[in-house]
Amino acid sequence: MTDTTDRFEKTPSLIPIRQEVIHNLTQAADSQSKSPMRQASVATIGYDGSPQVRIMIVRAFEPETMALTVFTDARSPKVTGLNADARMQLMMYDPGTRTQIRISGQAELHHGDDLTEKLWKGLPEYGRGDYLSRQPPGEQIAHPGDSWEDTTLGNQNFMVLRIAIQEIDWLKLSAQGHRRALLTWDNGEYSARWLTP
Ligand SMILES: Cc1cc2nc3c(=O)[nH]c(=O)nc-3n(C[C@H](O)[C@H](O)[C@H](O)COP(=O)(O)O)c2cc1C
Repeated sequence: MTDTTDRFEKTPSLIPIRQEVIHNLTQAADSQSKSPMRQASVATIGYDGSPQVRIMIVRAFEPETMALTVFTDARSPKVTGLNADARMQLMMYDPGTRTQIRISGQAELHHGDDLTEKLWKGLPEYGRGDYLSRQPPGEQIAHPGDSWEDTTLGNQNFMVLRIAIQEIDWLKLSAQGHRRALLTWDNGEYSARWLTP
């Protein structure tokens, strides 16, 4: 008798991969953790269509809604790009476990609303300084010291980006064989599959 079982049914379960990813993102969002995934490489499409990538700190993760939160200065060039195209990709890597996570999603821009107000109140004094430069980020200055903090600006430049995760491309390198999986959230509908690494 020939074995008619679909070969995909014989592969290891994808359930632990989802659990591991959720654990990784929870750790990344924990300010007390030493997770290397806390500093994500964040890609956006620039206002001129060019690729733009930079490091951002993961501030929050909601497993129920699969949303990530990062903070930025509303005057920064990335915001100009996001206003035209809100797609984002975040790349995280843990060298200890040789795990790469690529998260694709859509950003929701929060500025001057209840959410920004609440998160601003929770920021320590030193954390607020990042959004208090007198000049917009990226503007030319004559001397590094010219970019001084103006505390009278308050939270007016503080922006919260809430990223609704649509897809996670998970890759783990191993001498026993690399493994790669694609986890998808399509309007809340979850599915997963193995991919060729
Ligand atoms: C370790 C590290 C953490 C950073 N965290 C943030 C952050 O959470 N938010 C942010 O907007 N920029 C952060 N930056 C600065 C950005 O990488 C980037 O230089 C800046 O936001 C300007 O980006 P843009 O010109 O693409 O808008 C961080 C940089 C480093 C090196």
